[in-house]
Amino acid sequence: MNSLVSPSILASDFSRLAEEINVIKNAGADYVHVDVMDGHFVPNITIGVPVVASLKKVTDLPLDVHLMIDAPDVYAPKFVDAGADIVTIHVESPNIAFDVDKTRAVLENIRSMGAECGVVVKPKTPADSVFPFIDICKMILVMTVEPGFGGQSFMHDMMPKVKAIREKANEINPELDIEIDGGINQENAELCYQNGANVFVAGTYLFGKKNIAERIAGIHSLSI
Ligand code: DX5
Ligand code: ZN
Repeated sequence: MNSLVSPSILASDFSRLAEEINVIKNAGADYVHVDVMDGHFVPNITIGVPVVASLKKVTDLPLDVHLMIDAPDVYAPKFVDAGADIVTIHVESPNIAFDVDKTRAVLENIRSMGAECGVVVKPKTPADSVFPFIDICKMILVMTVEPGFGGQSFMHDMMPKVKAIREKANEINPELDIEIDGGINQENAELCYQNGANVFVAGTYLFGKKNIAERIAGIHSLSI
């Protein structure tokens, strides 16, 4: 599968977002990963709808919007309206918490508005919690850190989960992208790729580094 890179702007200089996005685009990024946090679902507050709307005006890279919020049912449509191309929602979010019908309703709503959808699992959430959504998702996102902050260490013990999701996807939706988020660098991206992941979020590994293009090319080369 093609390996793709989705730099997380959480690690960028927020006072210069347009320039930072231009840098990662010129360096070969495939997506812009936007971490939305509400201070409830995770203990941090970051980016909201108006910022996504502004980003949409300054880049043609697809916006990969990761909602770490209590109420994805309420806010996912607002992010699609603002220009999100892919919206991923946590299966653990309180408003939909592990309820298959409620979760599918949010995913179907995102799709009906013309965007792609995906579900996300925190480190302690098992692989099978995403199985009921593999058929309608573009992407499943497996967290390799506890969500909330950039710059944490990659959790190697998430690999069996990635493998289990890839095996299930091979039966149901072979085109499914499996995205990894948290503590990614070249070495562990390789490990994730071997286990079936193909989209890599990276924040601190990329932003502010002199050789961003080489680093992105390194991750792209996993699929060659
Ligand atoms: C964590 C976020 C990640 C994070 C990645 O809650 O979802 O996207 O910013 O940053 P690094 O690559 O620094 O772990
Ligand atoms: Zn993220």
